[in-house]
Amino acid sequence: DTALKYGPLIGAIDEGTSSTRFLVFASKTAEVLTYHQVPIPSIVPQEGWFEQDPILILHAVKETIKVTCDNLDKLNIDAGEIAAIGITNQRETTILWDRETGLPLYNAIVWMDTRTNTTVDEILKYGLRSQYFLQQACGLPVSTYFSALKIKWLMDNVPAVKTAVDEERCLFGTVDTWIIWNLTGGINGGVHITDVTNASRTMLMNIETLKWDQKLCDVFGIPMNILPEIRSSSEIYACLFMEGILDGVPISGILGDQQAALVGEMCFKNAQAKCTYGTGCFILYNTGQRRVISSHGLLTTVAYQFGPKTQPIYALEGSVAIAGISIKWLRDNLEILKDAAESTELAQSAGTEGEVVFVPAFSGLYAPYWRQDARSVICGLTEETKPGHLVKAALEAVCFQVRDVLEAMTLDCSMPLNKLLVDGGMTVNDYLMQMQSDYTGIPVVRPTLTETTSFGAAIAAGIAEGIAVWELDKILPVPCDTFQPQISEDLRNIKFSKWKMGIERSLGWIKT
Ligand code: G3P
Repeated sequence: DTALKYGPLIGAIDEGTSSTRFLVFASKTAEVLTYHQVPIPSIVPQEGWFEQDPILILHAVKETIKVTCDNLDKLNIDAGEIAAIGITNQRETTILWDRETGLPLYNAIVWMDTRTNTTVDEILKYGLRSQYFLQQACGLPVSTYFSALKIKWLMDNVPAVKTAVDEERCLFGTVDTWIIWNLTGGINGGVHITDVTNASRTMLMNIETLKWDQKLCDVFGIPMNILPEIRSSSEIYACLFMEGILDGVPISGILGDQQAALVGEMCFKNAQAKCTYGTGCFILYNTGQRRVISSHGLLTTVAYQFGPKTQPIYALEGSVAIAGISIKWLRDNLEILKDAAESTELAQSAGTEGEVVFVPAFSGLYAPYWRQDARSVICGLTEETKPGHLVKAALEAVCFQVRDVLEAMTLDCSMPLNKLLVDGGMTVNDYLMQMQSDYTGIPVVRPTLTETTSFGAAIAAGIAEGIAVWELDKILPVPCDTFQPQISEDLRNIKFSKWKMGIERSLGWIKT
């Protein structure tokens, strides 16, 4: 019955920066039948450091799978109908572990961690290199963001890592790799793999050959024997081995979470783009089989490769480190908000007077600036400034950062976007979406299908070797809410020029 009504079921593990979820999709209707979510706490041992416990991540993943299967049972749906599992994950986050004990050698260093500031400086000082000296090979500027810098820091600063590397016991993985190694082989470990999208965020993979690159590894002094095998984003990699739950179900899809959202939004054509608003904010623009090397601060990344024998599809990406997390900061550190839902009311209370500009450069500034020395600034405070002004400025910062990225995309692709497809947690906020449309001057289109990231992973897993046929024509066109620009071009530009003044101050902080 289940098979008839829903088609094969596809599970998706979605391991994001702030929580882990497991969702089950019906391939016939693309609906989410049930899911479970567990928050992942962060560890901040020092300013700018941002870690997570890999064991806790693993336990959370297992718990979400177990509870979701229990939920299916309550819905009278047989979990045995789950035909495949896809994984999507926070990217760049780096885990090193001991292949013999299976234990992590250090906490996971999360993507937004900035401890490698000085490592970046040292690498660039050598021979007065430009930040872009590896861009042709890997598509990325040298930045604290990517895994290579984090691996180097671990090898240089953690004695247990150095010993394990010397004794050839050390394994590296992004979060997808860590989860799959653990879920496919118990304590002895299973397959040590990643996919092209995650590998394209390490700075160690050649963006053209899609193989680990000896020259790139040499720059960071990273031995290639710690690296996982690079596979396509959609093929059967191995089967689950998880103490009686979903044992034997194939894992057949892996996508970094931002690439998964691009797939989930079904941006399969050249020049289609999406923006996902989560902890950070990430705009990906499909460039088809063309690798566009940016001259304006964007990243060249692999969007997806559906099968080992198919051509990879590339994207240009504008990564913004701080979006939703600035609202969390206003809530937890400044305590001027009770919860994110209150942000609209407070921001509206600020009205149009007393404009404050807030540049949240907690991890330096990412795209299109790539300045790790940038510092957060709040300007325009007056005696009249109230919490609402700060909240509004934090929401505006999200929108202006997106405009910064869109301008860079127009320069690189010489084709401005005529609409912005959006998804992610913050997009439930209509006020923010309207502001985004006002500040970019283009319609903002929000699909009603909300689970785009996990859906992308489920699509990749389902299409592998014909496991499931997604009846996408049944869900297309997805109904959408559209926000149209409502302010004048003049006002839009005046506001943006104030933001740019804030950016100048943020970038000039160290110098002055
Ligand atoms: O590159 C970092 C990104 O993958 C994190 O995404 O959704 O966990 O904030 P998210």
